[in-house]
Amino acid sequence: MNKTIAVIRGDGIGPEIVGETLRVLDAVGERFGHTFTYRDAPMGGNAIDAFGVPLPPESLETCLKADSVLLGAVGGPKWDSQPAENRPERGLLQLRAAMGLYTNIRPARMFPQLADACPLRPEIAEKGIDFVVVRELIGGVYFGEHRTETAEGQQKSVDIMAYTEQEIRRVAHVAFGMAQKRRKRVTSIDKANVLATSRLWRRVVTEVAEAYPDVELLHMYVDNAAMQIVRDPGQFDVIVTENLFGDILSDEASQITGSIGMIPSSSMGEGSRGLYEPIHGSAPDIAGQDRANPIGTILAAAMMLRYSLDMAAEADAVEAAVQQVLSDGLRCGDIMQPGCRLAGCREMGAQICSRIAKK
Ligand code: IPM
Ligand code: MG
Repeated sequence: MNKTIAVIRGDGIGPEIVGETLRVLDAVGERFGHTFTYRDAPMGGNAIDAFGVPLPPESLETCLKADSVLLGAVGGPKWDSQPAENRPERGLLQLRAAMGLYTNIRPARMFPQLADACPLRPEIAEKGIDFVVVRELIGGVYFGEHRTETAEGQQKSVDIMAYTEQEIRRVAHVAFGMAQKRRKRVTSIDKANVLATSRLWRRVVTEVAEAYPDVELLHMYVDNAAMQIVRDPGQFDVIVTENLFGDILSDEASQITGSIGMIPSSSMGEGSRGLYEPIHGSAPDIAGQDRANPIGTILAAAMMLRYSLDMAAEADAVEAAVQQVLSDGLRCGDIMQPGCRLAGCREMGAQICSRIAKK
């Protein structure tokens, strides 16, 4: 097969981790007889520097024309003083909206090889961590009106959080469909004791649940959920929640697995085209030093193979290669453990490639 992938290298460590991931995809292509054509789509701070805007129209077009999109990370202190409308993150939000990517999937799975890095007590870690956060991605307060005005001699800011039934329904269906293929439990997270959007959320999710009688539905307030994720993560299978709660809880969920550097994510809309990225940021403090962990991005590429390009065996091969380097004791700095060997970004990429090439 011949597939075209739009590539957003981004800022900070983005170009390094994406570079290793493209090498991994090439190794997959070689082993399985596919050709991947990469089209660069500048986005983020580097695009602000080069084109004046975080998401140039040409980049958006490249993404919309591709079979799928791979993203490193965007942002950095260099662009902190940009006005809100022209920050690197703005490009990412525009891209999500323009591609209609309403579902963001972030697995929180602990690699058994990294159990020692789990910050939770051993008796909790021993039970294993394997759940998925399904986050609504193009609604809620992220896309409501944001404004600051002067009222009675002081500034006043307003951010509007809004949801329609339809916006809730479509992401709820994704969560229930996913739970059917897993352990058949959906935990819907809201703040229905305070927010109108959450009361609507709860009602619509409960209605959607009727179409999935084999899936158990539980509701949980977001504050309690934040606590339960560290107290007893084993209770979760699929979490479904709105945009801002999902942003916060997915960072928490990734950290309890040992390293945020290991976790991929996919963002999907109606078609098969998705946006795949690691969930960590651009880590400008270690950029350009060959110290970044490329595994989150490499696993994001595996998700792309599986969910957008219909290449399940290829995805399995990438995930198996990652498992193997970990079992062989290779670690990047963020997951380094006593008795293991420290690898830079390039070496980690090369070692994963060599394990894919092996039949
Ligand atoms: C994420 C990030 C983004 C978000 C930022 C960069 C706008 O934190 O993908 O979780 O808040 O959605
Ligand atoms: Mg986030």
